[in-house]
Amino acid sequence: MGRPTLAIRVPATTANLGPGFDCAALALTLYMEVEAEKADAWEVVYEGEEYAGLAGGEENLIVRTMQETARKCGAEAPPCRLAVHSDIPLGKGLGSSATAVAAGIEAADHLYGLGLSVEEKARIGSCIEGHADNVVAAIMGGAVFSHYMDGELETVHIPHPHVGAVILVPDRPLATEESRGLLPDTLRHADAVCGSAATGVMAAAIAVGDWKRAGRMMERDVFHEPYRTRLFPDFDQIRHFAKKAGAYGTAVSGAGPSVLVLTEPDSERSIAQRLAGEFPAYRPLAVKASSAGAATVTV
Ligand code: HSE
Repeated sequence: MGRPTLAIRVPATTANLGPGFDCAALALTLYMEVEAEKADAWEVVYEGEEYAGLAGGEENLIVRTMQETARKCGAEAPPCRLAVHSDIPLGKGLGSSATAVAAGIEAADHLYGLGLSVEEKARIGSCIEGHADNVVAAIMGGAVFSHYMDGELETVHIPHPHVGAVILVPDRPLATEESRGLLPDTLRHADAVCGSAATGVMAAAIAVGDWKRAGRMMERDVFHEPYRTRLFPDFDQIRHFAKKAGAYGTAVSGAGPSVLVLTEPDSERSIAQRLAGEFPAYRPLAVKASSAGAATVTV
């Protein structure tokens, strides 16, 4: 690749934070970088084995997103060559597809001169993804709480969440559709009321930086974890161990299979080490909340 026209960096994200199903997400200090240059035909080249199997032409998600974003804005989408490097585990509940969508929107905005606002990018991303959580956090960074329905997006953005995290990544990936297929069609009214209360208190606690309370509420989900955790036989032991090690709280990361452990800032490394010793089947990633969302880093 010659001198790239553009380089973009987009964070990984962890969605739901327990009861904030399809609503809450947190950007993490783990990134995908995309370099782009104009070319005669579409081409996407991934660095590293994990991403090697992804489509390298027009079927690629970043490419489809660039084309769709241009189309929505009534603009042309001339082809580009993209070189992608990602530290985000693929298909492991860290928003890798939302990161690709956010990268595609950012690339289209710059390369095709669309002049999109961050809110417009978030709405286009939610429309492409079908739900708002990961993609809005990937675009905006920080912590976000979003309501997305019938193409309308309402988001509250908390730009500088001060919290650490350990992500426990198992070997096997899990398709989001498979994990969503485990969810029930209906929920008892009383359970939904409890779940909504947990989401509300968690969101308010995060907004005022009360991560201890947020961590407790994060463990009160009724919307998805009770149906999904049967895929993760050691989830309860991890939650119990992490709590004893001083963590704020534990949840399934997005649709899984990774597990999110929220920690006091700067204790993520020591808690990651302890978790690694106890649960060797997982690769622990010690990270922090990322204030940075999708951004063009060089032009
Ligand atoms: N909210 C989504 C889910 C996140 O839990 O299915 C994964 O896209």
